[in-house]
Amino acid sequence: MKIEFRIKRYNPDDGGSPEPYLQAYMVDVTEGMTVLEALLKISEEQDPTLAFRKSCRSAICGSCAMTVNGTARLTCNLQVLPEVEKMGSMTIEPLHNHRPVKDLVVDMTPFWNKIEKISPYLMPSSTSGSNAVTAEAEELIDQSQRCVMCGVCNAECSSLEIDERYAAPAALAKAWRFVGDVRDGSVVKRLERLSEEHGMWDCVRCVRCTQYCPKGVSPLKQIERLRSEAMKAGILDNHGAKHVEAMAGSVEKFGRLDEAAMTFKTLGFLKSLGKIPLGIRMELHGKMPHPYIVAQIEAIEEVREIYKEAGKKAGLKEKKKE
Ligand code: SF4
Ligand code: SF4
Ligand code: FES
Repeated sequence: MKIEFRIKRYNPDDGGSPEPYLQAYMVDVTEGMTVLEALLKISEEQDPTLAFRKSCRSAICGSCAMTVNGTARLTCNLQVLPEVEKMGSMTIEPLHNHRPVKDLVVDMTPFWNKIEKISPYLMPSSTSGSNAVTAEAEELIDQSQRCVMCGVCNAECSSLEIDERYAAPAALAKAWRFVGDVRDGSVVKRLERLSEEHGMWDCVRCVRCTQYCPKGVSPLKQIERLRSEAMKAGILDNHGAKHVEAMAGSVEKFGRLDEAAMTFKTLGFLKSLGKIPLGIRMELHGKMPHPYIVAQIEAIEEVREIYKEAGKKAGLKEKKKE
């Protein structure tokens, strides 16, 4: 079956046409053919100048990630016919959130810099006794070990889209690989670094990394684990941990969120003043409740019971009531 492939072309060295543009190719697609195989066919039979990366063709090297019909995918792991049947077309572009170098090839330097920043190697403690890894301990880091460094999660990340300094899901999932390893001796130091600005607390939980990761790493789940460990370790002097405490405190007190108080508790008085323009815009758009009173829900004791049980389960001491 003949399928039209629309492929983003870009060559910064081409004086005539340095702007990206879409080029169409007709490809004779057979049952089971992957998007990467179709690209190889185009390159071999129609256009040897088309640039793209690939290596293993088995979804294990991570080099063939591209944007297919709007979302990042491993092209060696994606069949053309079911994709066209589902989406009605075949458009291939370079990964989002990455600088294009030529055609479908992107600059992965920022990706690797982020990985390097989390110290992606074991730092065993010199004082720890046994370093045996039980099946249960291995299970905790199993998902994060499946990463093939393809960059799909970073390409889909909503936070990275607005802040290129954000640590981003691939590096954070890799960070859990070591924070969650019973043999590592630098867990607190790692968690302190991850709690800094542009770190794990900047994830907005859009779930796109988990939705599109082709290896089931579930980066968001690993980020949640990092956050939980950081709070257990008492690393609380940052906007993320303060926000969690403010939110939990508000629900425990009222059974609902007191958003104004949460802003003060999360950002502190001075930084909260910067939110006044937002408050004015909300008022102008009728989004501000009148009067601003946070009433306790009737079933507040049931909510507090849930807190007590959750606290017990997590092995935390029950917080003393004021
Ligand atoms: S859940 Fe967080 S890390 Fe994952 S894509 Fe969304 S913002 Fe990025
Ligand atoms: S976490 Fe998944 S999507 Fe992200 S780099 Fe690793 S394998 Fe690719
Ligand atoms: S070519 Fe290796 S993952 Fe696709």
